[in-house]
Parts: sequence; structure tokens; C-alpha cells
Amino acid sequence: MLFINLYGIILNSTIVPLDLQNHQGLPVKRILITGATGQIGSELTPALRKRYGDGNVIAAGHKRAPDETLRSTGPYIALNVRDSAALEKTVQQYNIDTIYHLAALLSAVAEEQPQLAWDVNINGLLAVLEIARLHNCSVFHPSSIGAFGPTTPRHKTPQETLQRPNTMYGVAKVAGELLCDYYFTRYGIDTRGVRYPGLISYETLPGGGTTDYAVDIFYGALREKRYCCFLAPTTRLDMMYMPDAIRAAIEIMEAAPANLLHRNAYNIAAMSCTPEEIYASIKTHIPDFTIHYEVDPLRQTIADSWPESLDDSAARNQWQWRPEYDLESMTADMLARLAEKLG
Ligand code: SER
Repeated sequence: MLFINLYGIILNSTIVPLDLQNHQGLPVKRILITGATGQIGSELTPALRKRYGDGNVIAAGHKRAPDETLRSTGPYIALNVRDSAALEKTVQQYNIDTIYHLAALLSAVAEEQPQLAWDVNINGLLAVLEIARLHNCSVFHPSSIGAFGPTTPRHKTPQETLQRPNTMYGVAKVAGELLCDYYFTRYGIDTRGVRYPGLISYETLPGGGTTDYAVDIFYGALREKRYCCFLAPTTRLDMMYMPDAIRAAIEIMEAAPANLLHRNAYNIAAMSCTPEEIYASIKTHIPDFTIHYEVDPLRQTIADSWPESLDDSAARNQWQWRPEYDLESMTADMLARLAEKLG
């Protein structure tokens, strides 16, 4: 059966009601988030719903079940991003114009299943870009500090520099950056991305990354007052608190296109720290917190190949990127909110 909706768009199944305005007076976007049940997606979805209207943000998950908030505040669908027919149907059915493509395997699990990681992280992205080309959608695709490798300058890593990662996660991130740029220059598809540092959040666990220790340490501190860290005490990496990461994803997608000289993908930075520094910061709140170290060789090797700090001046200059949280303010907020969550 065919229907014509408010925009005169013919849908051949359900009519999807469109919110014509949102309370912030922003132009209405129709957004699809893949990987919505993951670490970033579970916080980006509510943020985008608040900004663009609940009904305009469609959350798509695959392996992880959605939590109550994700299901109750707006549309939720199950979607495997490698199924391009299902992806296309979703984009048409919901009249999507913007895709936040977050579905991916993280670095440590990717190293355990490199072929699967390539399939999900690259073939999934290619499917998204093709649907974006056919239906003229903008695409946000996160890159990472993992897009760099052991030959990259580790300190204040420049925006443009050597990228020779030696992990499958990194290989897919570099290829992903290039693919996104290709779709922009070749087809004019509005692709944009940032290189995220390790992300610290209390809402959803990351699951299978090298920087996961920086989340786990807070759970250890609050639950048992001790933590066993899988990276060495002095391993310095860039980190970021999730509220900054969410804001970056929204701000780059709202930036004036003429200002974006790099697009895929911008270095962004907030704090550069080691396990022993995060431990010391938590200890100022929980004095009897203890830590010991049992280094995991796989994740240590990955961490040692990544930059210890990124130069984010291109993002600062071109779309006014600024972090709000440093190590101290992140630690205080993280402990307060996680304590509330854990009861
Ligand atoms: N946090 C990611 C990981 O550790 C890096 O982007 O895999």
C-alpha cells in the first residue's frame, strides 16, 4: 500500500510521522545512528534526540540489547550494517538525511578476529557510504588515535602525518578515513569525522578496547577500592570524557562546510594521561584506593603504537573545537555519576 506523508514522500509501508520543528529552532534533521547501543551511541542518541526531536532520531543496534531509555524515548530498530538492503529500507522508510555510523569492533577484539573486524568496520562503512550516495545523506564516521602507528610522531601528533598502524582496527580506521574523503571528493557526499582519544564514560562499557582500563578503573575504585590495570603505569595516551566526545560529534556535523579543510578526520584532544595519573586523581577522592599492574602484552603493544597526545589545532581553528573536561574535572564528575548509577 502506498502513502503520501507530510513532505509528499511516498512510503510503501508504515507512515513515519515527521517532527517538523524542534524546540531549539534548528533545521530538522532525520538521523539514523548505527551502533546506538554501544559506548558512544548510548549517549549520543539521547543528546541528538534532545537537540533534534525524539521522533527524528532513529537508534539502530545489532548485538547488544537496547536499554529502556533508548527504546522508550524514540524509534529503535535492530539492524546489521552489513545488510545494505535493510539499511536502505531504513533510510527510505524514515526519510533519513544524516547517518552517524558508529557500529564497529574496538581494537583488542579486532585483533582477536581481524577478518571479522575488517568486514564490520570497512564493509559496514562502505554499505553506509553507498546508501548515503544513493539517498544523499550526510555521514559522521568516528576515527581514532588507533589510526596512527609506531612510526607516527607520538608527541603532539600533527593533523597530517605518517599513518602506518599495525593493528586491524587501525588499518580499518585509516581506510575508513580515506573512503569517507573519497566519497566527499568523488561524489560530493558530506562526510565528516573526528579522531577520538580513549573515551571515558559511566553510562555504557566500551567492550574490547585498549583504552578500556580508563573506564574500568572507576568501577574498581567504587566497587572494591582496588583495581588491576592491564597497561603499564606510565603508558601515556590521549583520553576524553564522553560529554566532550558527544559535543564534538554534534558540533562537527553542524559546522559550516566551507570551514572544513580536513573532514576525515580531525584530531581532537582533551587530556593526555597515564594509568598512574588517573589512579592518583581518583585517590584524591578515595584515599584507600589501591592499584596493581598485570600487563596484557597484546593491549600494551597496541597502546605503545599509539600517540601519547594529539595536536588538535586544526579542529580548534576550523570549527572552534574546545574540550571542557580535564583530568580533575572528569574524575570528580565520573565518580559522582558512577556512584549514583551503582547505588
Ligand atoms: N578506545 C579505542 C580502543 O581502545 C580506540 O579508539 O580500541
